[in-house]
Amino acid sequence: MNVLVIGANGQVGKHVIKGLAKSEHKATAMVRKEEQANKMKELGADEVVLGNLEKDFSHAFTNIDAVIFAAGSGGSTGADKTLVIDLWGAIKAFQYAEKAKIKHFVQLSSIGAGDPDAQPDNIKHYMVAKAVSDQMLMATSLNYTIVRPGPLTNEASIGSIETTDMFKEIGYRSIPRADVATVLIESLSTESARGKAFELLAGDQEIKRALENV
Ligand SMILES: NC(=O)c1ccc[n+]([C@@H]2O[C@H](COP(=O)([O-])OP(=O)(O)OC[C@H]3O[C@@H](n4cnc5c(N)ncnc54)[C@H](OP(=O)(O)O)[C@@H]3O)[C@@H](O)[C@H]2O)c1
Repeated sequence: MNVLVIGANGQVGKHVIKGLAKSEHKATAMVRKEEQANKMKELGADEVVLGNLEKDFSHAFTNIDAVIFAAGSGGSTGADKTLVIDLWGAIKAFQYAEKAKIKHFVQLSSIGAGDPDAQPDNIKHYMVAKAVSDQMLMATSLNYTIVRPGPLTNEASIGSIETTDMFKEIGYRSIPRADVATVLIESLSTESARGKAFELLAGDQEIKRALENV
């Protein structure tokens, strides 16, 4: 499949581009700055398309079979950008994907998005944005997978995870970005991951096996 990666220049996004280059899929990297294009090609992207989630980016969906949405406004911006990028940007992506008859939409969400009221006040707006965006995706006609990882690290890949609907207690657990990227890519070709939303942390189940049981 030709996979559009939204947020390709992000820390997870770069792992996704590298992983897709080693897979049976092709990667189209969506970035918002021209100068990011060369890096994407170096990492193995087949195509690069310029697109900004704050504008119309429907052109990015030409000849695309599947989408991995790995973008986000980040911790250094305010709640206004969370609304515009994490929520409204994602909703526009679902609309473009439906029009383009995309076969599978994989959304990088966050642990806690299944229950924003249980989250600390300082991140509740972010959790609400993720929760509403996830619910909007579930209400579309798209085949979807919603991946809700715990705290992300830049540690080397472990290659094994634990998934559940909602963790009761995570303690100090986390998950490497490299493994989240593998989960996003493997979700594209794992039938049992379709129509599912799940939380994940590093664990002891090999990724493909864990997704088959999700
Ligand atoms: N941090 C955590 O512990 C954690 C835990 C669970 C889930 N998550 C989710 O995982 C996501 C990815 O994490 P990450 O570490 O890879 O984040 P990241 O490095 O900040 O990547 C976010 C990407 O989104 C892109 N982006 C932002 N605004 C955009 C816009 N208007 N148009 C197009 N692209 C835009 C950024 O583009 P530029 O490169 O041009 O800036 C960047 O490439 C986060 O956004 C968050 O929602 C994070």
